[in-house]
Amino acid sequence: MSIVNAKEILIQAAKGKYAIGAFNITDLIQLEGVVDAAVEKKSPLIIQTSVKPSKFLGANVMVAIYKTIAASAPIPICLHLDHCTEVDYCKKCADTGYTNIMIDASKQTFEENIRQTKEIVDYCHKVGDISVEGELGTVSGVEDQVKVAENEAALANPTQSVVFVERTGLDLFAPAIGPAHGVYKTKNPKVDFDRLARINQLLNGKTIKTPLVVHGGTGLPEDYIQKLIAAGGAKFNVSTELKRTLIDAKYEYITANREEYDPGKVDVAARDAIRKAVRHWIDMLGSAGKA
Ligand code: 13P
Repeated sequence: MSIVNAKEILIQAAKGKYAIGAFNITDLIQLEGVVDAAVEKKSPLIIQTSVKPSKFLGANVMVAIYKTIAASAPIPICLHLDHCTEVDYCKKCADTGYTNIMIDASKQTFEENIRQTKEIVDYCHKVGDISVEGELGTVSGVEDQVKVAENEAALANPTQSVVFVERTGLDLFAPAIGPAHGVYKTKNPKVDFDRLARINQLLNGKTIKTPLVVHGGTGLPEDYIQKLIAAGGAKFNVSTELKRTLIDAKYEYITANREEYDPGKVDVAARDAIRKAVRHWIDMLGSAGKA
């Protein structure tokens, strides 16, 4: 059985000094491309949906597809709900069969973030083997429900991070350390590697207990990715790149074949482009052969 929660595969990754890609999907074509690439590369995989696509497809439909694919896939696969700001929707997805839930109360006060995050941790741990991700500080840019202006983004404080993780009982921790959602305007985005390393040292010292998550994967230079893995990053979220790949591949195919009305061929072009992008991520993260 290859249905897993994120915590178990991420602890292995952090110990082995590689990371696992968490790929946001919005439809079945993207899902197939992502899974095909991970199977081909023998890599553990985290599939993510943010709230909008999850509601659009239906959490129950998403889970049914996930379970069908994961049951026969030769790799461990987790289904993660990304950046959910609604406590009730987090619980609904946990009840339905998502195996990892991110409650994003990072725009709330510190105490309220702790309260909401702990509520979801307690709930998910009671419902079953579901791990929970929480965030401290704020990641700038737009990811579905969550919009943060560049000048409002705040980095996570290392000492506060320890308090946050201890008081909530979180399984995975996403500290804001600089990377932003969306496309970077510069080739050298500001990323606080030392902050991540410090948080990792404080939380995980000798034993990995709480794997760390890096948001804003799209456009991060490869040397940044390697430094972030060395500093403790175990889960890398990638969304914008896959949205762009999907739309660009469909656009290019349709433009080149304007008189052909065969949706299946458009889908194949899109799926192949996604597969290629994900294979590249898996190579950069070092998770090939780790399934
Ligand atoms: P990007 O859209 O920048 O890849 O960020 C993805 C993300 O962090 C989703 O949680």
